[in-house]
Amino acid sequence: MKSIQSNIKKAKQYLDKNHCVAVPTETVYGLAGNAYSDVSVKRIFKLKKRPTNNPLIVHYSDIDKLKNDCVINDNFIKLYNKFSPGPITFILKLKKISKISKFVTNKQNSLAVRFPKHPLFKKLLKSLDYPLAAPSANISTRLSSVKATDVIEEFGSKIKYILDGGKCQIGLESTIINLLGKPTILRFGGLDVSKIEKLLKKKVLIKTNSKKKITPGQFPLHYSPGIPLRINAKKPKKDEAFVLVKKRKDKFKNYYYLSKNNDLQKSAKNLYSLLRKIKKDGYKMIAVEKIKNKGIGKTINDRLNRASKY
Ligand code: TXA
Ligand code: MG
Repeated sequence: MKSIQSNIKKAKQYLDKNHCVAVPTETVYGLAGNAYSDVSVKRIFKLKKRPTNNPLIVHYSDIDKLKNDCVINDNFIKLYNKFSPGPITFILKLKKISKISKFVTNKQNSLAVRFPKHPLFKKLLKSLDYPLAAPSANISTRLSSVKATDVIEEFGSKIKYILDGGKCQIGLESTIINLLGKPTILRFGGLDVSKIEKLLKKKVLIKTNSKKKITPGQFPLHYSPGIPLRINAKKPKKDEAFVLVKKRKDKFKNYYYLSKNNDLQKSAKNLYSLLRKIKKDGYKMIAVEKIKNKGIGKTINDRLNRASKY
């Protein structure tokens, strides 16, 4: 308990000085900085090598603090009450009086906001008098980090501090919903779209592959392990690593399991770590067996699809 407090204090000290700190969330690790500070936000973009026109998600501890920066609406309140804190990001209208750095939004008038559930991150946010801009803690287009060691692999000593909160529970990024007009899903993620539709009592629009450049996270190449990957494979070709979700009778060195009993939640949690491991083991190509396109399976398939565009 004592060390938790002192780690949060350390993270706060760095953030107060406009440095970036890696933070654990229930989805993936974030690379956080003070969302009200131009210096902090510019540092995030530089570290990630992220194009400056790709806006960041801002993380809040609660709705009261959000009201300083965004206009809230009915759909937001409904979804917030049911699903926050949790793996959902809302696009809302930015208030003119907001102190959010213009570099966060690339001067757009909308803001992506999220209320993370990880207890350490929540405690950290509560201790600050500003919200935290935090994209996933990885170099642009690469796999997100789900453990502190992944963050080190991505950034080495370039970041000042990692608040280590263990392995991320969900392992894939949040679901993004645009609430400016008709509710529209911009990215599949940790929260099942069917749960959102059930709550809103209507179908939502799905624009996860928009040709218009509203969300660079929708660009084809993303979430890539950095080596070619093919999906829906029945068997591996020579020299390919083979990623499986169900146990097979035969045993081969190149078989890698996300789960042994078709458990999609578990597969999601293991996905990025396993792809990292395969690359470290020296493979130059990856084949992945067909994964059920249901629940979080949809998000797994979305990420694999994008990774396969490498
Ligand atoms: O689970 C998550 O969402 C993680 C954790 C750290 O919270 N964060 C994350 O951030 O995945 P990032 O930056 O890797 O992905 C955020 C996505 C990007 O594709 C960005 O283009 C989109 O959100 N985005 C941000 N602001 C937006 C806006 N105002 N309108 C539309 N899309 C936006
Ligand atoms: Mg990302």
